[in-house]
Amino acid sequence: MLNVAVLFGGRSGEHEVSLISAASIVRNLDAQRYRVLLIGIDKTGRWHLQPEALLRSVRNEGASLSIDTAEHGTPEHRTAEHGTAEQPSRLVLIQPGAGLRLAGTEETLPVDVVFPVLHGTFGEDGTIQGALEIAGLPYVGAGVPGSAIGMDKEIAKRVWQAAGLPVTPYMVLRRSDFDTLEDRALVDCRRVATERFGFPLFVKPARAGSSVGISCVESGDELFNAVRTAFRFDNKLLLEPAVPGQEIECSVVGNSVPTAYPPGEVIPSHRFYDYDAKYVDPDGARLEIPALLTAAESAEVQRIAAEAHRAVGADGMSRVDFLVHNTKRTIYINEINTIPGFTSISMFPRMCEAAGLAYPRLLDTLIELALNRYREEQELSFDYAALDD
Ligand SMILES: Nc1ncnc2c1ncn2[C@@H]1O[C@H](COP(=O)(O)OP(=O)(O)O)[C@@H](O)[C@H]1O
Ligand SMILES: [Mg+2]
Repeated sequence: MLNVAVLFGGRSGEHEVSLISAASIVRNLDAQRYRVLLIGIDKTGRWHLQPEALLRSVRNEGASLSIDTAEHGTPEHRTAEHGTAEQPSRLVLIQPGAGLRLAGTEETLPVDVVFPVLHGTFGEDGTIQGALEIAGLPYVGAGVPGSAIGMDKEIAKRVWQAAGLPVTPYMVLRRSDFDTLEDRALVDCRRVATERFGFPLFVKPARAGSSVGISCVESGDELFNAVRTAFRFDNKLLLEPAVPGQEIECSVVGNSVPTAYPPGEVIPSHRFYDYDAKYVDPDGARLEIPALLTAAESAEVQRIAAEAHRAVGADGMSRVDFLVHNTKRTIYINEINTIPGFTSISMFPRMCEAAGLAYPRLLDTLIELALNRYREEQELSFDYAALDD
């Protein structure tokens, strides 16, 4: 049996999505092969070991995941109710070089591999991955640089451009470029955006997700509000021309030699694939697998997706999203998600499944890839003094 710690919840705006993704993963992890430890991260960022009962109810009764924070107590704040032998602390701490342990105890949790099921900020952006590196634990998915590059839509595009891959045209706006939002810089930006891209155009935070803070702008007059909205979520924004056409997604699995599966397509019923279309409106989007592309186009999407995954260093898994122009048929990479949605109806597992990789086998593969990468990294030397010998 392999001990798998599933990390879920998290500090991001995608906390609730993570609960659903993680519940699906728990149900699909082969109970014959894995002993699952559930660690919920609350919205303040604390890690809580969840009771066994939650695991059973999620597995057997299809219950949803939640985070039980009631049982924790920090060593300084121990009372009769907290951290006693009868009711031990459930707060999980990182031990540098030695895994995870419960606060106030010397007990190291039995963890062979961690499966972070955390979307967005503080989960998909390299921060949790850094913590797991410090703990010395193998984990599923991209490492620190792959996660951080994948999260930043500007840096990812620069990396892809350097690799000769096609990306949606863009310009970057930084908060520091403006004294106030209404000053000359915004006027300049409006002129440049109008001349370069025309309308409609998209304004988006560089490092967010779930379409939060994104607007599709029809005229220069709307630009100010869109910029102000996006600056609520990040200090760096991207402006892009709206690409009229198809939204294509492609699942990629593997480390340095990844496999890209045949793409699927998202057909939003809204003006674009906004937050409501993703999570609120049950008819917000139709998902088509396979995508409505020619065989040659699908093959090209797969080729680019695998290259895009490699270029950012997205180990394990990623979903690479594309925009395909409806008349010119140009294929642009839109973005990469290094911890894609994992609910049973999410595109990532469904596209793998359509290609013959069933959800439980996909999880086996991801865990194996995590252990392989860890083993390879263990062989590296960090002891430069040894070079003198
Ligand atoms: N340049 C663009 N052209 C057309 N649609 C876009 C463009 N950029 C974003 N969109 C729309 O906005 C949605 C969210 O944008 P995206 O860049 O994928 O950010 P997120 O990380 O929030 O998913 C996309 O799924 C698509 O519907
Ligand atoms: Mg997206």
